[in-house]
Amino acid sequence: MATRQNGPFIVTGASGQLGRLVVDQLLQAGAGPIIAVTRNPEKLADLRNKGVDVRKGDFKDPASLGPAFAGGKRILIISTDDLERGKRLPAHSNAVAAAKAAGVGHIVYTSFVGPVPESPIGFAYDHQETEKLIAGTGLDYTILRNNFYTDLLLMNGPQSIAMGKHFAAAADGKTGYVTRADCARAAAAALTQESGKKTLTITGPEALSQADVAAILSEIAGKTIPYVPLPPADLVRAMVQKGLSEFLARVFVSFDEAMAQGYMNIVTDDLKTLTGRPGQSVRDFLTAHKAALLAPPRG
Ligand SMILES: NC(=O)c1ccc[n+]([C@@H]2O[C@H](COP(=O)([O-])OP(=O)(O)OC[C@H]3O[C@@H](n4cnc5c(N)ncnc54)[C@H](OP(=O)(O)O)[C@@H]3O)[C@@H](O)[C@H]2O)c1
Repeated sequence: MATRQNGPFIVTGASGQLGRLVVDQLLQAGAGPIIAVTRNPEKLADLRNKGVDVRKGDFKDPASLGPAFAGGKRILIISTDDLERGKRLPAHSNAVAAAKAAGVGHIVYTSFVGPVPESPIGFAYDHQETEKLIAGTGLDYTILRNNFYTDLLLMNGPQSIAMGKHFAAAADGKTGYVTRADCARAAAAALTQESGKKTLTITGPEALSQADVAAILSEIAGKTIPYVPLPPADLVRAMVQKGLSEFLARVFVSFDEAMAQGYMNIVTDDLKTLTGRPGQSVRDFLTAHKAALLAPPRG
């Protein structure tokens, strides 16, 4: 039986997609008081009307974090979206130090599966170092190593359907895809219930290969869409030819390489244990987003 912890609960990055979902979860659960910290408080005016204490805070501006975190008892630190290796670490370090200085007792952090320097994903290292910083505070924590968002299949899915081929550089690697909404449920549950020092791995209910993803896209589109495995360099080149910057193309392809090398082939029961409900399957998620998948691809 989960123990209900007392707030105030701080959610950083509260205007991001995950942050908003977490605040919604907390409101639905009647948990509070809620302190929503964001670089853009104007985006959260609606939350103020629901009793949320919206404050300005930017991890890159340490002076903003003292007032932003003041009075909070438990904090969800949402990792920032800097994709370059090493870039988010100073920002995360500021956030962890400010949480400790503010007297927070428990830190929840959104990490990523396979947070090791050898991962092809450059910023995986930042997650590992942030985990170490959090452990080093001596405070209680829940590290949530989220697997790859199922939602990201909505980025290339329409293209695969339109082209009739699903290109990826993931070889036969499998991924325990988890939806952003399920990651939000996990984060809200950890913030309001967890105690002690734990590292959890948040995944969907099954691990799928890109051939499996292509088969689901085929069902949804009503036509056969084969998976075409490509060497990483070829996929980078194709993305750049389509207009993506080389940096972003390399980041996207590094996800596929991490899949190929087995870094995302992880499925656990941690989400179900934490929230009482397993994650949504890729098939159910993609079927629920059929209209978006069949819309003409952007770009
Ligand atoms: N597991 C996965 O597959 C996966 C996929 C994508 C992203 N992620 C990670 O999970 C996080 C949340 O995902 P999302 O879908 O909500 O991404 P998102 O919508 O792109 O949101 C980006 C988040 O980064 C925060 N942020 C950026 N710079 C910041 C700064 N200087 N100080 C404080 N916060 C800052 C934003 O907060 P404000 O704008 O409110 O200040 C926002 O919450 C991402 O930032 C990324 O680290 C994981």
